[in-house]
Amino acid sequence: MKIAFYDSRPYDMLWFDPLLKEADLEPQYIQNRLNLSTVGYAHEAEAICIFVNDICDKDVIDRLADMGIKLILLRCAGYNNVDLKEARKKKMKVYRVPAYSPAAVAEYAVSLLLSINRKIPKAYIRTKNFNFNIDGLIGFDMRGKTAGIIGTGKIGQIAIEILKGFGMNVIAYDAYPNPDLDVEYVDLPNLYARSDVISLHCPLTPETKYIIDRGAIKRMKKNVIIINTSRGELIETRALIDGINDGIIGGVGLDVYEDEDIYFYEDWSDKIVRDRDLARLITFPNVIVTSHQAFLTSEALYQIASTTIQNIADYINGTDTPNEVVEEYSK
Ligand code: NAI
Repeated sequence: MKIAFYDSRPYDMLWFDPLLKEADLEPQYIQNRLNLSTVGYAHEAEAICIFVNDICDKDVIDRLADMGIKLILLRCAGYNNVDLKEARKKKMKVYRVPAYSPAAVAEYAVSLLLSINRKIPKAYIRTKNFNFNIDGLIGFDMRGKTAGIIGTGKIGQIAIEILKGFGMNVIAYDAYPNPDLDVEYVDLPNLYARSDVISLHCPLTPETKYIIDRGAIKRMKKNVIIINTSRGELIETRALIDGINDGIIGGVGLDVYEDEDIYFYEDWSDKIVRDRDLARLITFPNVIVTSHQAFLTSEALYQIASTTIQNIADYINGTDTPNEVVEEYSK
């Protein structure tokens, strides 16, 4: 079987190649993202394999169906970029990788938090220039401070475990609280009012879009640090920028951004970035923006590749798997 891998990067090939060879599957690596103008590149393939920013809407699915493609493999957990209804109509199967390494994302969120709090990127740049001055690099002890976690699923739970290890008081909000979890659940206004640090670990849904908006920021403690490794649209960017300008927000670590699909994973270093909000965020001394890389560990990449190969085997053998995404799936 030939599989067209859209938006594929050298690190994808590194983990996929040996497993594909072993399974006697042939890859076609395509650097471009999937959309209506690139869908034709897969005309010789029998399946496509896509990532978070590929577009698999009705028009693309119609073309895929015309080309005889019956299998869509997501190299990620989220499937908001696939028109599931249209895929079902065209009798296409869609599979995903529901969890690759929740630890990778939780550990990354905490890395962003520590980097912002203790001003490590600034210190690194100074010492690279042999400037050993430490003025302006004051942080705060994490021990005894309060962390508010929004979303206590796989990633949120590991973040809670790590932050408790620092001696922080951890409070949490979840639309579906987990009774087995040893954490104090509070409502959102309470979480905003009490937290020194807020980290987002819920999915993007109509209910969570802009969960951090202007009203939420008004309720927050002065100098709060906000970390987002989930999805950009959980935060209203303009309100975030105003909150930083007004001195309410003391620091921000973003691995995701609401309009990231144009810029993230691409080299824009010699081009003009026209997104004023993104450019503004990057100019703040107390903001770190990274390019949706929280998942990027060897363990997670191996898990993504091996689960995808297993998904292909299950498709070929007609084996039922919870990794198949069906329209009714709602979480
Ligand atoms: P999960 O499904 O295990 O947990 C999500 C939690 O959010 C659940 O406990 C759920 O009840 C809760 N939730 C659902 N609706 C909510 C609402 N309205 N308000 C508050 N909580 C709500 O998901 P997991 O694996 O922990 O992933 C969380 C998110 O992390 C993903 O949705 C994805 O957006 C993001 N992610 C980011 C990656 C990166 O590289 N930056 C990589 C992988 C995931």
